[in-house]
Amino acid sequence: MNVLIIGSGGREHALAWKIKQSQEVKRLFIAPGNAGTMTLGQNLPLEVNDMAQLRAACIEQDIQLVVVGPEQPLVNGIVDFFRNDAMLKDIAIIGPSASAARLEGSKAFAKDFMAEFGIPTAGFIRVNLNNIDEGIDFLRNAKPPFVLKADGLAAGKGVLIIEEREEAEAELSAMLRGKFGKASETVVIEEFLKGIELSVFVLTDGQHYKMLPSAKDYKRIGENDTGLNTGGMGAVSPVPFADRHFMDKVRQRIIEPTIGGIAARGMDYRGFIFFGLMNVNGDPYVIEYNVRLGDPEAECILPRIKGDFAQLLLACHEGRLQEVKTELDDRHAVTFIMASGGYPGDFAKGKTITGLQDVEDCHLFHSGTSICVENGNIKTAGGRVLALTALDYSIQEARTKALSNLSRISFEGAYYRRDIGLDLIKWHYI
Ligand code: AMP
Ligand code: GLY
Repeated sequence: MNVLIIGSGGREHALAWKIKQSQEVKRLFIAPGNAGTMTLGQNLPLEVNDMAQLRAACIEQDIQLVVVGPEQPLVNGIVDFFRNDAMLKDIAIIGPSASAARLEGSKAFAKDFMAEFGIPTAGFIRVNLNNIDEGIDFLRNAKPPFVLKADGLAAGKGVLIIEEREEAEAELSAMLRGKFGKASETVVIEEFLKGIELSVFVLTDGQHYKMLPSAKDYKRIGENDTGLNTGGMGAVSPVPFADRHFMDKVRQRIIEPTIGGIAARGMDYRGFIFFGLMNVNGDPYVIEYNVRLGDPEAECILPRIKGDFAQLLLACHEGRLQEVKTELDDRHAVTFIMASGGYPGDFAKGKTITGLQDVEDCHLFHSGTSICVENGNIKTAGGRVLALTALDYSIQEARTKALSNLSRISFEGAYYRRDIGLDLIKWHYI
């Protein structure tokens, strides 16, 4: 079978690496990919939201399986586009339809879905310019901090957590008046949930689901969770505090009602669900749904999944998920992101990366890299540049292995958090 992976980050490199191991896979394409994915297959210089170009590539390369990495093409309706095209309709495309992708693409839609199916989440109100007074009342009756969310996709910047009520009221007004463009024409105001976050992943065919490994990601740029939010600076899997008892609650209260809701509404959903959860004193609440794998979570969890991943994805598309057994590597995976200096603010690109060939006994995934055509050097091409994952029998050993490998890689301005997983080590002893 020929496979196309859409996207260009560490998540897509990890997907390409995992899928490439399948005996069934003949040719592998990544659109647009990066300097890492080109060692596994052929990069196609296409834009992830350009459906006409992707269509032509699928026909030309006789693609049978498509895996969509990022959310934007899913929210734009790439799955519907494939299903409704005579030439593409038999391709197994992994991801939800546009209407189901609203679980990520519209926070108000996701909240209404959770309310309808009794899925635990923070109390909320949806506000637009017509009921701004109700929003102000909600803020006056709530305790700080205040959580304001742009309804639509806002490049990961649409969530504001504010301490002062007056500032929250002013931000609410700014958001409704276009601070995030159309994305904040509707705003969801939520209660603040105090707890510890984790990410839970499943693959669903719309009726059944397979649990994938869980992960904790580290969103802030600075050590000890300080500084600006990023796409994610590292991840750990499994999550030590997500024990069997807690995960039973996650399954019963969250995953099963979500799949039940998808089936009850007749949504066409054959893809990944990423549950962003808060553990509040041992009880799970949904912070958000994402309709894809996370980045860097994918780089952390895919190395822990055993077996033929391409077969698993095909079974998902054909509604046969319950027939497939998945096994996990029970070692601990720790992923560190090496980023460009200045990220998540402005940063330079085009810095030569050295030491990549010295990495041993780790998975090195490229996030933002490119290759220099003249001399074959690998250069930085994004904020997050590399994702390095080590597996070992404890978080501590995996950390040590990853850190010793990271010290062999360098480029001007390289930055990484050294504390990934450090806060979780104590859970081994409780
Ligand atoms: P989101 O874009 O929905 O993932 O939100 C970004 C981050 O804001 C989350 O990862 C949480 O850390 C935080 N957050 C969002 N909603 C809440 C909430 N209701 N209570 C506490 N923290 C939240
Ligand atoms: N690491 C969080 C995300 O991919 O959304």
